[in-house]
Amino acid sequence: MSRTLSKMAVNVACALFAVLAMIGISELSYEKSVDAMDGIAQAHLARSHVQRLLRDVLDAESGQRGYLLSDNTAYLEPYKAAVADIGQTQDQLRELYVLQPEQTGTLARLGRIVQRKLAEMDLSIRMKNEGKEDAWRFVLTTEVGKEQMDAIRTIANQLIEESNRQTANGYAAVRRSLLLSRIGITLVAAIAFAAFWLYLRQSDALDRAGQRQQLALQAERDLLDAQVRERTARLTELATHLQQIREEERAHLARELHDELGSLLTAAKLDVARIKAKLSGDTGDLPARIEHLINTLNSGIALKRRIIEDLRPSSLSNLGLIPALEILTREFGQRSGLEITVNLEPAELDETIQLTIYRLVQEALTNISKYAEAHNVEINLLSYKDHVTVSVRDDGKGFDLQAVQLSAHGLQGMRHRVEAAGGRLDINTAAGTTITATLPVAALRGAGRQQPESPAG
Ligand SMILES: Nc1ncnc2c1ncn2[C@@H]1O[C@H](COP(=O)(O)OP(=O)(O)OP(=O)(O)O)[C@@H](O)[C@H]1O
Ligand SMILES: [Mg+2]
Repeated sequence: MSRTLSKMAVNVACALFAVLAMIGISELSYEKSVDAMDGIAQAHLARSHVQRLLRDVLDAESGQRGYLLSDNTAYLEPYKAAVADIGQTQDQLRELYVLQPEQTGTLARLGRIVQRKLAEMDLSIRMKNEGKEDAWRFVLTTEVGKEQMDAIRTIANQLIEESNRQTANGYAAVRRSLLLSRIGITLVAAIAFAAFWLYLRQSDALDRAGQRQQLALQAERDLLDAQVRERTARLTELATHLQQIREEERAHLARELHDELGSLLTAAKLDVARIKAKLSGDTGDLPARIEHLINTLNSGIALKRRIIEDLRPSSLSNLGLIPALEILTREFGQRSGLEITVNLEPAELDETIQLTIYRLVQEALTNISKYAEAHNVEINLLSYKDHVTVSVRDDGKGFDLQAVQLSAHGLQGMRHRVEAAGGRLDINTAAGTTITATLPVAALRGAGRQQPESPAG
């Protein structure tokens, strides 16, 4: 994951570099092109000035010749205009060539020859004006004027060629910088595209890694969930099993007590009765002792019955749930002195459900006597088509359900029994305590081994 992230950072850096490089290349090529264009413009200007100078010199010469030969002063106008223009053009050329030292020598040479040519033309006009006909004709016929003109043309052509060369160089520079920018931009665009492509691939890889991690996490969570569910199911199974065993043990003990101890006590009672019947004459305190023995045996039998009843309510299997609950609550009312209101609707329930309800009411009443400090208790059994609700309500002090100790098993056992039978338990401790169980009329399969056995007391 971190490797992919660092790769992404490299990509972002590449993209940034590509953008900067593109801007740099475009700026550089712009600068170079502008410089080259400036050079071209200057070269053009220099050429046109040189050409103008040449034209002006020719104009001045033809004006001078026209005047000398025709004596017509109208020719002096173009002559003067051309001479004036020559000065100006020379100034402009000097300005233009100021940054080109290699050309300034040539320009100075041209200037000198032009000055000489102008001086010669001026001299011949002055001689004409002074009437020195032979003198100006001589000047005109010498080769000097033509030589000067040729020299001017040669030097001007050199300058023009130089400016042409500069123009060509300028164009070549523009083309080069355009080519450079073209290549650069293509290259940079290719790099940017590659970086973008890599970025897409890596972000895709990142997505996939994220998804894989998500899936792994989900699988881990599912596994944990399954483990928790399985362990809870096992614990529930174990608790149900232990409860069943407990009920079976109790039933077994009740049966043993009833059958073995019951028959022993009964046999002993019969023997004592027989001994008592055979006693005759003065037997001292024997009758009194036998009477005491019979009472002791009767107490033993009564104790045995109570223990059996406690272990396994015979009323439940003998009389059914409603009478068993009535007996339980009546006895509890007598023992505790609490006001108990009972409303029990008859219902067709299987034995497991009956035992669940009986044990629930039993534990709820025990808790009330232990903790509630209540005055009134209300017990309801309401019967519906396919379920029943049992509620035990007291007006005592209530309690904090969250603060119940782990070591307390009464409420837990209650909930376990109810849920194992396919029902639901609600405990409300807001005002007093109300315990409500909703149970199906027939228990779920698996909870059905809590068969109450009927030890006759
Ligand atoms: N009706 C009630 N009124 C007030 N407090 C109650 C009531 N029923 C239960 N409690 C409180 O809830 C706690 C848990 O009750 P529970 O029956 O689960 O355990 P226990 O009675 O303390 O122990 P055990 O039932 O295992 O012998 C009790 O200790 C008591 O504080
Ligand atoms: Mg309890």
